[in-house]
Amino acid sequence: MAAPLIEIQNLFKSYRRDSLEIPVLRDISLTIPKGAFLAFMGPSGSGKTTLLNLIAGIDKPTSGKIIVAGTDVAALDETDLARWRSVHIGFIFQFYNLIPVLTALENVELPLLLSPLSKRERRAHAELALKIVGLADRMDHYPRQLSGGQEQRVAIARAVVTDPTILVADEPTGDLDKVSADEVLGLMEQLNRETKKTILMVTHDPRAAERAGCIRHLEKGELA
Ligand SMILES: Nc1ncnc2c1ncn2[C@@H]1O[C@H](COP(=O)(O)OP(=O)(O)OP(=O)(O)O)[C@@H](O)[C@H]1O
Ligand SMILES: [Mg+2]
Repeated sequence: MAAPLIEIQNLFKSYRRDSLEIPVLRDISLTIPKGAFLAFMGPSGSGKTTLLNLIAGIDKPTSGKIIVAGTDVAALDETDLARWRSVHIGFIFQFYNLIPVLTALENVELPLLLSPLSKRERRAHAELALKIVGLADRMDHYPRQLSGGQEQRVAIARAVVTDPTILVADEPTGDLDKVSADEVLGLMEQLNRETKKTILMVTHDPRAAERAGCIRHLEKGELA
């Protein structure tokens, strides 16, 4: 078995609304090996997005530990956390979140702007990422000139262009028709298989979850 990449120990998360403490995640412990393709399912409000955000370092636990690739993520300050995220995490969202005034190529190049790469190298990396997702012929298109499935593939290229340790995808096929969803899932499978990317995906779609190697269910903030 591969060494654990992500170790979650006794994780609790609650949000405070006025004087009310709302428990969202309760005592989650979970080990995820490097190279896993894991799907989280569960009813609306069960805490799937919250869990993904905690692992990705865009939210802080109330208590418990999240160790990712040897780093105690919750212990990092905001500056270190931002740097850590830019190296280790690639995000894929339900509604793609592409910048409308930038071309596909410029959107994919965006995460590289803070890297030490030259303009030429950035361009080469972005072109390669777009080739991998099958959009070599759409590089100069703007998001509005692309289908939903193509937009999501651009978003996947943007997520992998920095070669992150982990891809996190929150309902990546939630806004797509069946054919486009299958393409996007096939691409994620391919990235997992061929580049050994660790992928964490939240989905409501049982067919999408089946494409992952492992499915975990959340119920009212607890892992089933
Ligand atoms: N920033 C926040 N402040 C207060 N409460 C929050 C916050 N974010 C999430 N919650 C609450 O935490 C609970 C879990 O939310 P979360 O978004 O993780 O659910 P989810 O499983 O992703 O649901 P869905 O399937 O609808 O996306 C919900 O009750 C939600 O209202
Ligand atoms: Mg959610």
